[in-house]
Amino acid sequence: MPLARLWPLLSSREAERAAKLGFDHHRARYVRAQAGLRMILSGYLGIEPEAIGFQYGEAGKPFLEDTLSCLEFNLTNSGDLALVALSTGVPVGVDCEQIRDRWDVVAIADRMFTPEQTARIASAAPEDRLRQFHIAWTALEAEAKADGRGLLGRHRPAAQAALRIEHCVPEPGFVAAVARERLPPVGDWITMTLDAGLYPVTHKSFGAIHIGAGVYKFPFDCILATMRYAFGVTGGRCRI
Ligand SMILES: CC(C)(COP(=O)(O)OP(=O)(O)OC[C@H]1O[C@@H](n2cnc3c(N)ncnc32)[C@H](O)[C@@H]1OP(=O)(O)O)[C@@H](O)C(=O)NCCC(=O)NCCS
Repeated sequence: MPLARLWPLLSSREAERAAKLGFDHHRARYVRAQAGLRMILSGYLGIEPEAIGFQYGEAGKPFLEDTLSCLEFNLTNSGDLALVALSTGVPVGVDCEQIRDRWDVVAIADRMFTPEQTARIASAAPEDRLRQFHIAWTALEAEAKADGRGLLGRHRPAAQAALRIEHCVPEPGFVAAVARERLPPVGDWITMTLDAGLYPVTHKSFGAIHIGAGVYKFPFDCILATMRYAFGVTGGRCRI
């Protein structure tokens, strides 16, 4: 979909933020992600994408304004991919990362992860080390995004419910984690293709290899939607 048709869906706050971005491709990704999020939410809420109002938590987590608060969501971007997790009743956090080479994974792990996780990454075979790192990283971020504390405030008081975290491969070369109080095992998730209006239309069972743009659906009350930006990329019917 041409960018010019997506700009009008954005709020003035989002449009201002987009306008301030220094690079055209960053601006395009941002506009597509926000517009795509609004279109997906619109499909579930039954109201126009541009009419959806957001409020923001202390560390910036967007959520639906009170009148629409039955639906929880969270967005993540990595490269040309964006995921939206939807949940009824309880908060949800999602993080997606493109697996890319970096030399400092053990040093970062040492700072950010538990000693057990760091040891697992450090002792992994070189070809598996990056994957292990990104699995741990996405789990950390998804958990920190579920209640909106973000990375700076990720340690939760012991009284709060522990979150379940599950991983999936939204596209080859990416790893994603979802954090929520209740989550079925990833093998039970279902993938649905999206039509041009971003409504889920067909079901496919979830496999290890991802099928392109789609929606991962958990039973009943939690959904993970995938958006692939159309930077010359074909494949997948959900191109926004
Ligand atoms: C939230 C956070 C972990 C996201 O990390 P990231 O990997 O760069 O970004 P992702 O692509 O996964 O997610 C970004 C999206 O998550 C959502 N988001 C923003 N803040 C969030 C938060 N605190 N919790 C959950 N989701 C948040 C937004 O939809 C955002 O999309 P946008 O940037 O297009 O508006 C990171 O930005 C963070 O820790 N922020 C909090 C900073 C903070 O504590 N500030 C305190 C006030 S100074």
